Amino acid sequence: MRLLTILLLCGAALALENAVGRKPALGYNTWNAFGISIDEDIVKATAQRMIDLGLRDAGYVYLNVDDAWSEPVRVDGKLIGNRATFPSGIKALADYVHSKGLKFGIYSDAGSHTCAGFPGSRGYEAVDAQTWADWGVDYLKYDNCFAPASDWIVDRYVAMRDALNETDRPVLYSLCEWGVADPWLWAPEVGNSWRTTEDIEPTWSSILKILDYSTGLARFAGPGHFGDLDMLEVGNGELTLGEQRAHFALWALFKSPLLIGADLRTIHPDSLAILKAREVIAINQDELGVAGDLIWQQGASRVYAAPLAGGGRAVVLLNLHTPGGQYVVSNISVSWEELGLPAGTPAAVRDLYATADLGTFTDSFTAEVTAHDVRVVRIVPLGGLKHDSWRPWFSQTIRGPTSPMSDSGGTSGTASDRKMFPGQHSMFART
Ligand code: GLA
Repeated sequence: MRLLTILLLCGAALALENAVGRKPALGYNTWNAFGISIDEDIVKATAQRMIDLGLRDAGYVYLNVDDAWSEPVRVDGKLIGNRATFPSGIKALADYVHSKGLKFGIYSDAGSHTCAGFPGSRGYEAVDAQTWADWGVDYLKYDNCFAPASDWIVDRYVAMRDALNETDRPVLYSLCEWGVADPWLWAPEVGNSWRTTEDIEPTWSSILKILDYSTGLARFAGPGHFGDLDMLEVGNGELTLGEQRAHFALWALFKSPLLIGADLRTIHPDSLAILKAREVIAINQDELGVAGDLIWQQGASRVYAAPLAGGGRAVVLLNLHTPGGQYVVSNISVSWEELGLPAGTPAAVRDLYATADLGTFTDSFTAEVTAHDVRVVRIVPLGGLKHDSWRPWFSQTIRGPTSPMSDSGGTSGTASDRKMFPGQHSMFART
């Protein structure tokens, strides 16, 4: 067990060998809109809507079926599609999705059952991975319900990674263990993405909670392995347009997979426009593949930022004040110093939701931001950057895993430095 831990944490011999997921996945997942009430007609209609609404052309290519697609029990030891709701079978559905120029994703679980009670894949990793490969599956979301506590999570997720590696089909491997076993420490060697938190809900408080629980994790992500802040709620619940803009832009900046979770047959055009915000999607899909994080906060004002290929910065200015209160609009600033840009550097600033150039600035940028809303800008130094001094989170100590794998409590750090990140003040302070 400890040897496995060491190998995983060294990132040496063991790795996922699928060469997919170099950028965060863009697509659709059935769960947030439909829960367990899914069938092949819904999936087919969604495929057609992804095309008709221009979402496929905007880059959303994965169409992922979540929980409740299978028969309640295995047949001859294999998973098969639910005969009542997927009568044509999953292979036929995958073929249909492929015929539409989309990729097909499926869901299973690293325990005995899925969270909705359908058969899980624990102990059946090889046969299930081969079944999915035979069906033409391109994406696997792998959940964490119904596993005995004695079974260590890493082993269960590694078992499916190895089974996927054994098939000759590249399958994007999406880990969904809800951030319970510090997945950022080991998942980069195991999968293409890992959920950072418990499930999202279509409320502002849920979005803020996920944002806060995911803060500080940017340094663990990179091309081919990204933190997953959970599927999008844009177009769901009672979220205002400002809240939907904030949710989408922050998920994009954090390099989370962007998986649409609304019913595309009825989505409001304003929510659709947010999902299709081309220049915000471009932040998410930037070649550099470095995740964004919180770089400054004071009161209800926050600044999140990420570096972009070529020396630019993507910046999200977030106003947490309560809408309708006295402080509906705040002026929020970001300085070049906070962004790792030399002071005095002329840089072009562009508003990415408005797709409008805002001019050239030399030391800082300030914008009015409405309560529960964001301004999203790209800041590009004219003439590029000679040396990019980004990545303020490098100063933070990486804490060891809080797992039964480690007798000492971690590979680095001590009990006392668990209490705080030593570099934290320099990450947040205005100088
Ligand atoms: C868990 C996952 C969700 C969804 C459901 C399905 O709660 O975290 O994203 O897949 O299971 O049952």
